[in-house]
Amino acid sequence: MKKILIIDDEPGIRTVLKDIVTDEGYDVALAGDGFEGLKILREEIINLVILDVWLPNMGGMDVLKIIKDEHPGIEVIIISGHANIDLAVKSVKLGAYDFLEKPLSLDKMVNLINNALTLESLKSENKNLKESLFMEDEMIGKSPELDAIRERIRQSAASDAKVLITGSNGTGKELVAREIHRKSDRANNVFVEVNCAAIPDTLIESELFGHEKGSFTGAVARRKGKFELAHKGTLFLDEVADMSLSAQAKVLRVIQEMTFERIGGEQTIQVDVRLIAATNKDILQEIKDGKFREDLYFRLNVVPVHVPRLSERAVDLPLLIDYFMGKFVPPGEVNSRKISPEGMALLTAYGWPGNIRELKNFVERINIMSDEEVISRETVEYFLGDNTPDVTEEEKNLNIYDSMKLSEARDAFELELLSRRLERFEYNISRTAQDLGIYPSNLHGKIKKFGIETRK
Ligand SMILES: Nc1ncnc2c1ncn2[C@@H]1O[C@H](COP(=O)(O)OP(=O)(O)OP(=O)(O)O)[C@@H](O)[C@H]1O
Ligand SMILES: [Mg+2]
Repeated sequence: MKKILIIDDEPGIRTVLKDIVTDEGYDVALAGDGFEGLKILREEIINLVILDVWLPNMGGMDVLKIIKDEHPGIEVIIISGHANIDLAVKSVKLGAYDFLEKPLSLDKMVNLINNALTLESLKSENKNLKESLFMEDEMIGKSPELDAIRERIRQSAASDAKVLITGSNGTGKELVAREIHRKSDRANNVFVEVNCAAIPDTLIESELFGHEKGSFTGAVARRKGKFELAHKGTLFLDEVADMSLSAQAKVLRVIQEMTFERIGGEQTIQVDVRLIAATNKDILQEIKDGKFREDLYFRLNVVPVHVPRLSERAVDLPLLIDYFMGKFVPPGEVNSRKISPEGMALLTAYGWPGNIRELKNFVERINIMSDEEVISRETVEYFLGDNTPDVTEEEKNLNIYDSMKLSEARDAFELELLSRRLERFEYNISRTAQDLGIYPSNLHGKIKKFGIETRK
């Protein structure tokens, strides 16, 4: 049921509007001024606001600005007296849906409310659609390696222990970090990410700890750093091994006490932040090479999580392919497409150096660019291009079974075996049967079942 918030200081108007709205079958909430109204908006799910332009304490226009800022999806209908009509016009420019002049016309009001609510639903549908398209991935896989990671996540999520995630490009390090946050007590607070590799050395300290206005050239305003922004939440230091040694020294100092000053600032800031770091570098080697501080490594590596390469957990591959095929169903189609056994054989033999990110992109691409319902070997080859692996006949046959039910695999195997054996004994039924250790009548039955050609 849709809920409408009425913000007006005149009790008479509130009552009239409340009656109109409830007669139309909507829920209603009432507020006598802007502060009260904004409080309700923060606490309840409101679909539409009817706002008086003239209000005590905080003017209607200011209330409108805050609503549009904090709840951009909610439509606002302005009501105004004749004297404030210019303000009402301005309000539409500020994002109000429309305005209505007092004395209020019942018909016009009902019309406006219904139209504004239709717009609101369309917008929120659209938002849901967008969100589901960009929805994070579930963690897919049933390999023992992935199960061990799940267990690690479960154990460490509840505590505030620092976690260091290692693994190659695209293996899912960030997904692990987000999963830890999501399962922790901090789940309702922010997850703040810093990509240490993407920030120039000169700016990293300001990025992490913030700065005061004028503290260096370019510091035109005070800025909060990521540590401050992550207060009460989780801070994810991605590509942590790419930080300069001086930034490492600063981070080391800060994470012991979780206190720091902004650059150019006097005030000591205390934060409550859970740290998760990740790197795709061989961090022990970085330490040996003098590029990463050993003491920082020990601080960060309280709970180590290593995410193995996709090629090291082959059993996850078909599951991931299924999952992404389902995710990237082309628009207008209902069922996800399939990959032919021959195509699967190639995908299984391919090494996936870019790991899951590469696989995901690959599956998205074939769904967009090919219109085959069952993706053929040729298409897979085409999209793998020069990377197409050489698959021996033997590997191909083994891999084909990966996408079959047991009964299908058994039949395929039996057919293959019988055909070869028959050929070896030049289609002599009794000799072939004897060699296989079955009765000739049994062999006859199977030849019929599989439609094997026996005349040379
Ligand atoms: N087990 C999984 N199940 C489903 N999707 C996954 C899985 N692991 C990773 N992904 C997806 O693969 C993509 C790459 O993962 P992610 O960004 O977490 O990797 P990464 O290790 O941080 O990569 P990089 O080192 O390049 O930063 C993401 O879209 C992620 O959602
Ligand atoms: Mg990453």
